[in-house]
Order: sequence, then C-alpha cells, then structure tokens
Amino acid sequence: MITGKTIERFREIETPFYFYDLDILKSTLEVIRKESDNSGYKVHYAVKANFNPRIMKLIASYGFGADCVSFNEIERAIETGFKSSEIVFAGVGKTDKDISAALKNDIFCFNCESIPEMEVINFLAEKQNKTATIALRINPYIEAHTHKYITTGIEESKFGINTWELDEVMRQLSSMKNIRLSGIHFHIGSQITRMQVFKSLCSRINELQDWFATRNINLEIINIGGGLGIDYENPDKRPGFEEYFTMINEFIDLRPGQKIHIEPGRSIVGQCGSLISKVLYIKNGSNTQFAIIDAGMTDLIRPALYQAHHKIENLTSEGMIYRYDVVGPVCESADTFGKYIELPETKRGDLIAIRSAGAYGEAMASRYNLRDLPKSVFSDDI
Ligand code: LLP
Repeated sequence: MITGKTIERFREIETPFYFYDLDILKSTLEVIRKESDNSGYKVHYAVKANFNPRIMKLIASYGFGADCVSFNEIERAIETGFKSSEIVFAGVGKTDKDISAALKNDIFCFNCESIPEMEVINFLAEKQNKTATIALRINPYIEAHTHKYITTGIEESKFGINTWELDEVMRQLSSMKNIRLSGIHFHIGSQITRMQVFKSLCSRINELQDWFATRNINLEIINIGGGLGIDYENPDKRPGFEEYFTMINEFIDLRPGQKIHIEPGRSIVGQCGSLISKVLYIKNGSNTQFAIIDAGMTDLIRPALYQAHHKIENLTSEGMIYRYDVVGPVCESADTFGKYIELPETKRGDLIAIRSAGAYGEAMASRYNLRDLPKSVFSDDI
C-alpha cells in the first residue's frame, strides 16, 4: 500500500516515475530464498523483467544467479554483483558477437534452442579454446493458459527444440568437441496463474528424463524457467511461492545428482513497483469521462500490448466514486490504462498509481513520441 507520508513526498517529484518499494522487494526475496534453500533449487533472476541497477544489486545480494538474453544484460548483471559463473544466457536468436562476449566472460551456461545455434557456439568456443556448457531448451508442448503473446511452449512457438529433433540433436552434439551438455531447460510462458500448468510441465519433464536415461545421457540440471504469475487485482499480495515450490517438489522426479534451476522474473519484482502519474485533464467523452494522465504507453506498455490489467488508484482523492477511462497522452488509442475504472472523484493534479508495475514496466519503456524515459524513485530515498 502507498500511504500518507510517501504520497506527500510524491507531490514534490516530477511525474511520471516508477516508485519501487524496497521493503516489498526484500520481503519477496526473503521468501524465495527460504523456499529455494529448503528445496535445494538454484534461482536465476530473469533480468529482462527489470534491469534497474538498484533493483538488480539488491537481488544479487541475496546470492541468486541471473538469466540474461543479451550480452548487455550479462554485462549489467556482472556490474551489479551477479557472478559470471552464475549467469545463464537464453534466447532464440543469440548473435555471434554476444556469444563470443559471453564465452569470454566464462558464463555458466547457454540455453540452446536449435542445432544451428549449437554449431555456432561450438565454432566460437573452439576459436577461444574453450568448452561452452549448454542446456537444451526443449519445447514441451504445454498450454500455459496465459496471453498468447507470452505463451512460449506450444507447437507453433518459435522457442525451444522440438522433441522429434532430439535424436538428431544428440547425434550432432557427440561430434561438437567444444560443447558440454549439462542439462535441459524449459520456459512455457509468463504470468501463469494455474498451478496445474506447472504440474503438467513436471509430468512432461519426467517423461523426457526417461528418454535421456535410456540413452545413458547424464543430466545435472533441470531448468524449469520462470512464469509464476502475480495477482494484478491485489497488488499487495505476494506471489504464491510456497504453493509453487511444493508443487514442483511433489511432481518432479529428480535423478541422483540433479538440481532444479528456476528463472523467476515477474514474481520477484512485479509487486514492488508502481508507476506514479499526475492527472493532466478530465475530459468529457460521449459515454465516459476521460482521466488523461501524464504517463503513457511509452512508460508502461503492458495494457496496450497484452490488454493487461493493472490496478489503478487515485492517491489523493477520497470523494464520490465515478467511472473513468484512464488514458495517456500518446497519439494512439491503445494508450489506455483502463476503461470504466472506478475512482474517487478525480481532478487535475491528482496523483495516480498504476500498481504491480515492477516487472516489464520500466524495462519495456520507449521513447515513442520522443517522450522522456520514466525516472525511478526508491522507498529508501524519500
Ligand atoms: N526464462 C525465460 C527463458 C524467459 O523467456 C522468461 C520471460 C523468464 C524466464 C521469466 O519469466 P517470468 O517469471 O517473468 O514470467 N513482457 C511480458 C513478459 C515476457 C516474458 C518473457 N520471458 C509481460 O509484460 O507480461
């Protein structure tokens, strides 16, 4: 909850900005560390969710690794205190330049998505006289029951290696001298709220484990990716880590010497961030009233891109409840944060909080309309 004193401080800060409550982040990190320590899992924070250095430094201080998708992310992770030896590099289109730089930095593992990618990694590793450790990202064909743009493990997905290609992958791997296979990797989607989906993933992993075992292929790492959803309706609610860890412990059959790795992004940073904005104008529409705020889709693109729901609160009014279409100033009708949103009577100058915006908010900001990038403000500083 954003309360009195904080709101008073907000009045002095130029809007729009991201506000990060570091106490919420810390308490989330404590829960996930406790659960992962109890279960013996390795956590790699998915940097793409939020690469703000202050946020990353705090996450690194909990001893987690990082999951990166570009060399710039790897560099940022190293700068903010993550160890190179605990960085995994994912992505369906890794460039030669990024692969070479990652090899030079001796990262922990490349999560590989195709035979051609393995060939390039093998070639570039040989040039550096190194052995690259890889995991195979396998497409398990599991419907994640989330928005289609963030569903990544079904048949038409561009991600992962298809199971029908695994024989060929293993055949080719045997002749790649500069690659060492350490395990298998999965990521079936994001904002997954049905635990049943993770249960299906566990069953599929157990079947695939049999496939590798019958071929005497040793896997040390079972990386199940990220995807645990948050409750956008209740921004003050912590993600269900306990249920998630219990589910995985119960349904994955690990073989001796194997370790589970996970790559949470949203569930770590989602609830600690809010986008704070000021109301510019209240404007009458034909069927609605518009509350036009100074934050737009360039600051938080999730509603425009995924029709995502973020709770909207007026921090500075307690009047009668009315309905508003809360919209931004960008020249696109998609620049809408919510329609028919119930808010206390809203006027020019009111402060609006768009909650649960810590993940894929600031990280996806753009300069469309040549707008300024949003600034960030931390609870410690105000
Ligand atoms: N691992 C891999 C390989 C991934 O591709 C992702 C996210 C994660 C882990 C972290 O997933 P999370 O725990 O955050 O669900 N921009 C979208 C989300 C895109 C997710 C992309 N991959 C959104 O705003 O909803």
